Amino acid sequence: MYGQNPIDDAKRAIRAIVTDQLAHWAPSLYVKLTGQTGRGAQEDSPLEAAQYFRNCFKDYFDILQIERENITAFLSGRHVLEYGPGDVPGVGLLMVAHGAESVICIDRFPLLALSPKNIEIMELLLESLSGDARLRAEDCFLIKGKPSSGFSPRIRYLVRPNGLSGLRGTVDLVISRAVLEHVNDLFATFADMHEALRDNCLAVHDVDLKSHGLHRKNPLDFLTWPLYLWAWMYGHKGVPNRWRINYYREAISASGLELLLMYPTLLAEEKDIAEVRAHLALPFRNISDEDLAWLGFRMVLQKKGVENT
Ligand SMILES: C[S@@+](CC[C@H](N)C(=O)[O-])C[C@H]1O[C@@H](n2cnc3c(N)ncnc32)[C@H](O)[C@@H]1O
Repeated sequence: MYGQNPIDDAKRAIRAIVTDQLAHWAPSLYVKLTGQTGRGAQEDSPLEAAQYFRNCFKDYFDILQIERENITAFLSGRHVLEYGPGDVPGVGLLMVAHGAESVICIDRFPLLALSPKNIEIMELLLESLSGDARLRAEDCFLIKGKPSSGFSPRIRYLVRPNGLSGLRGTVDLVISRAVLEHVNDLFATFADMHEALRDNCLAVHDVDLKSHGLHRKNPLDFLTWPLYLWAWMYGHKGVPNRWRINYYREAISASGLELLLMYPTLLAEEKDIAEVRAHLALPFRNISDEDLAWLGFRMVLQKKGVENT
């Protein structure tokens, strides 16, 4: 808990503030030094990473309640926007394989890498496909079927300040996984999503509200660090922004997007909430126990058409 051991707090804060300056002024070097893939701290094998992307792809359609045999019809000719793909656009590749016309990946950090491992991940994904799906996936590369040649315009990877796409009414589906909890301006990201989507189209997100290893004893004690100190320590690293479910509801409502579905994927225990309650930093103090408990969630949003507003 912040404040209980001031010497520990000071050491941790100084270390984090110094490394945050590195992330601010040399983001590429910071990404290189920390070996970030976007898929967490643990090193995964190419086989595991390929399976991770297949699971992510399947999860999106489970959340959307679209049966496996209807996925290609749903995606056919669609333009997909993915926020925060990590260092390899494995889900984007599967979206094109299953019918999407194109995928634009937007990130705030330059994570994309055509490393031997990432090439192998894409080769494994290609090998797992057959027929038309395989042909469409092969078309994602400058030399057909050769991931090492780089991406064709079917998959575009863009790094933008604040991770905002700036697109206007050109996108049919927005996706993200383990990204929204990292964005630096949640209201701006939802507004960007609203602008990017065509009328009546959907956004589907999987959000992880856990501490990402930044708590000590209680899974919620990372919410005890004051807002200003957290910003100095982590503002440029893309670690969790710490916003809770109540803030997501506000940002969605301000964006004009309609919430079609929202459910928790993990809840904190009552005893952990009770223990941390008196120590919470200012923006988290008035959050209900019910909202504080959400440690992850999934949701589907829709941009209403003019005739439906
Ligand atoms: C935990 S990783 C998840 C990567 C990938 N979606 C996955 O499931 O493996 C978070 C991703 O969000 C990106 N990110 C952070 N802030 C962002 C922002 N404001 N807009 C878009 N992407 C952002 C990170 O650079 C990283 O690619």
